[in-house]
Amino acid sequence: MSAKDCFVVTPSNPLIGRTTVPGDKSISHRAILFGALGQGVTRVRGWLAAGDTEASLASIQALGVQVERQGKNELTIHGGHLQPPRQSLNLINAGTGIRLLAGIMCGQPFESVLDGTEQLRRRPMKRILTPLQMMGANITAVDNRAPLIIKPAKLHGIKYEMPVASAQVKSAILLAGLFAGGATAVVQPGPARDHTERMLSAMGVDIVTDGDTIVLTPNGSLRPMDLTVPGDVSSAAFVIVAALLVPGSDITLTGINLNPTRTGLLDVLRAMGAGITVTETGLEAGEPVGEIRVRHSVLKGTQVGGEVVVEMIDEFPILMVAALAAEGETVVRDAQELRVKETDRIAVMAGELSKLGAQITETPDGFIIRGPQKLNAATVDGHDDHRVSMSLSVTGLVADGETTVLDARCAGDSFPGFAETLAGLGATISVKELNPT
Ligand code: S3P
Repeated sequence: MSAKDCFVVTPSNPLIGRTTVPGDKSISHRAILFGALGQGVTRVRGWLAAGDTEASLASIQALGVQVERQGKNELTIHGGHLQPPRQSLNLINAGTGIRLLAGIMCGQPFESVLDGTEQLRRRPMKRILTPLQMMGANITAVDNRAPLIIKPAKLHGIKYEMPVASAQVKSAILLAGLFAGGATAVVQPGPARDHTERMLSAMGVDIVTDGDTIVLTPNGSLRPMDLTVPGDVSSAAFVIVAALLVPGSDITLTGINLNPTRTGLLDVLRAMGAGITVTETGLEAGEPVGEIRVRHSVLKGTQVGGEVVVEMIDEFPILMVAALAAEGETVVRDAQELRVKETDRIAVMAGELSKLGAQITETPDGFIIRGPQKLNAATVDGHDDHRVSMSLSVTGLVADGETTVLDARCAGDSFPGFAETLAGLGATISVKELNPT
């Protein structure tokens, strides 16, 4: 794909068949960042080779970690010894990459600078600076934005009550805690994804969760891992909603991560009347994995708020698309975090969907949609936000006419092969180069 690529989508035939989606982005970031700390050889299969995770991979390589690739999705990481980087580490658009790596870098005996694109530089970093500084870290940033400048310092454990339920913040603190004197405790206001806890525990770290509190006590070296990354349920979400909306569809997604801190969208869609059946088939990387069968369904509006919000925080753009097709009112509350993702996802989605004729009422912490609404094709913009670009493409499957989503390239930040996966199930979506030169 080139920077000028766009998705072209028309009303679709039914989506039929079995398929899977690429590896989980959150677990793929952690597999390499934590693998770099493991004393020995970590093997990762099913790794997500995507824009965001490649940025984390390049960063650990710049820290002197040897990585061999057996094909795109299989990695061998020789962990255990980080070296000073020669230049600043470029996390591109990856919020998870920069925040988690910041936690690790605060514990190193050398300086580092963590940076990224203008988009990443706009994202809030005070949420990690405050607790890391409380731990004694020498981490600074002008206006609390990247670049983050980190110098060696002696860390000590803290007990920190997180003001927002964020897995990235929780993970940054716990990772710094690996290098601190004494135990580090994090109290979370909601059930943010727990991949860090699961993976560190599998590496032999003393980490205990008791209700909302996670306590990590450093206990020496980390064991390397051998893991297969399950399919990303946040990528599956686009295919799931596409199948729900296109009449006659019946699909099954295999090998999907079913970690309960990630499956809030499935619960919400079921409450909307979605024909979704989940079958757990086993465990991968300490995470429950299984199949998700989805049949076209007539949806009804619902209310979303409280704890489920963090369990589906990346899925609100695609929930908006489902809500436009649902009978009655959908009201989302407590989702103000959407405003500080890759874009302000409430404003950007409402603005782009309005080009298709959608009427969405924005609220400070969510939105209200009264459906079903008839949508007409238009040219819309992905705003360099992968989840926006893919959500708009799914909308095109049920809008009259031909929808063009500019900025298709960013879908590859988390879901390389997005259009090909949908097309393989029968959806009428293609990738086209705009104004080839
Ligand atoms: C992630 C945590 C979430 C999520 C992001 C991935 C992670 O961010 O939106 O896509 O891997 O820890 P927050 O921690 O900012 O909510």
